[in-house]
Amino acid sequence: MRLAHLPTPLYEAKNLTKELGGPRIFVKRDDLTGLGFGGNKTRILEFIMGDALAKGADVIVAGAGWQSNWCTQVISACRRLGLDVAIYKQAVEDGYDPKDYDGNHLLHFILGAEMVVVGHPWREKAAKAKEKLIEELRSKGMKPYDAGESPYRSIGYANGVLELLTQANELGVKIDYIVHANGSGMTQSGLILGSKALNTNIEVIGISISPGEDKEGRVAKMVNEGAKLLDVDVSVGEKDVNIIHDYLGGGYAVVDEDVIRAIELVAKTEGIFLDPVYTGKAMAGLIDMVRDGKFDKDENIVFLHTGGTAALFPYREPIKNILKGEKPTWLKPPWYYRE
Ligand SMILES: Cc1ncc(COP(=O)(O)O)c(C=O)c1O
Repeated sequence: MRLAHLPTPLYEAKNLTKELGGPRIFVKRDDLTGLGFGGNKTRILEFIMGDALAKGADVIVAGAGWQSNWCTQVISACRRLGLDVAIYKQAVEDGYDPKDYDGNHLLHFILGAEMVVVGHPWREKAAKAKEKLIEELRSKGMKPYDAGESPYRSIGYANGVLELLTQANELGVKIDYIVHANGSGMTQSGLILGSKALNTNIEVIGISISPGEDKEGRVAKMVNEGAKLLDVDVSVGEKDVNIIHDYLGGGYAVVDEDVIRAIELVAKTEGIFLDPVYTGKAMAGLIDMVRDGKFDKDENIVFLHTGGTAALFPYREPIKNILKGEKPTWLKPPWYYRE
C-alpha cells in the first residue's frame, strides 16, 4: 500500500557536524513522507493498512496522546483509503475539550475524526476505551482493525533501512549508527530488523521519550514478529535492543531547556525544524552524547527525523520563554498534566 513519497532525502548536516566537532551527522528526512504533516508513521502504515485491507477491515482503531502524530497519520491514511476510523486520545481529564485547538489536535479535528478522550490514569483508561470502541463497532456489523497491535508494525522501517543503505552507498558513506526517538518502539524494531536482515553492523540507538516497562522486550518482540512475516533469519532478545533512557527529562511531552536549545541549534545551523516531544528530545540526547565523546570523530551517524513538527506551535510559550531567557510559564503541557 503506497502512502509515502519515497525515498525521503538523506543529507549531510555539515554545519551541525562542525558545530558539535564530533562524528559526521546525516539527517534522514522522514519528516517529509508527504502524508498529513509527514513523519515516521507513514512508512509503518503502508504495511499496517495493507494488512488491514487484506483482512477486510472497514474501520481502523488507534489511540495515543492528545497531540499525537500517530493519530494524525492514521486518520490521514484512512481518509486517503476511504476507511472509517475510531480514535481514543489521552489528555489531562476525561472529555477534555479546550477553548483553543492547536497542533495535531487541530489536524484531527479538521480531518473529522470521532474521538474519545480519556484522562489519568491513561494506560488503564485507554485500554478500556479501546475495548469499548471495538465492541461497539463489532455490534454495528463493522470489522475493526487495531493499528497499534498490527504484526506488520516493524516492516515499514525494515524496508526503510534498505532505502537508507542504497542512499548511503550512493554517497559512499558507511553508516555506523542510526539515532532516533523511541516511543512505542515500532520504528526501532523495524530499524533493527532491517539492519540485521541486511547483515549490516549498524547500531540502532533509540532515545526514549516516554516511560514504559520493558521497552526493550517489546521492541525485541516486534523485531521477531516482523522477521517471521518476512521469513528472514533474524531473532533478537532484549539485550540486542539499545534504548537510552537518560534523556526522558520530566516525562512524556515535558520539555526543558536542552530540548528547546536542540531545536534552536538545528534550526540555526541547518534550517530544519525539529519537534518538542520526539525529535527535539532525541537530538538533545544525541548532542549530549557527542559532546560527551561517546562517538569517534571518524564515525557516521544518521539522525532519523521522524516528524512531529505540528507540535511546535502548541509549545510556543516555553519556546518563547526559554529563547528569550525568561522563566517558562510551563514545561509540562497543560493538555496532559496539572502543574
Ligand atoms: C514524531 C515522532 N517521532 C518518533 C516517534 C516514536 O516512534 P515509535 O512510536 O515508533 O517508537 C513518534 C511516535 O509517535 C513520533 O510521533
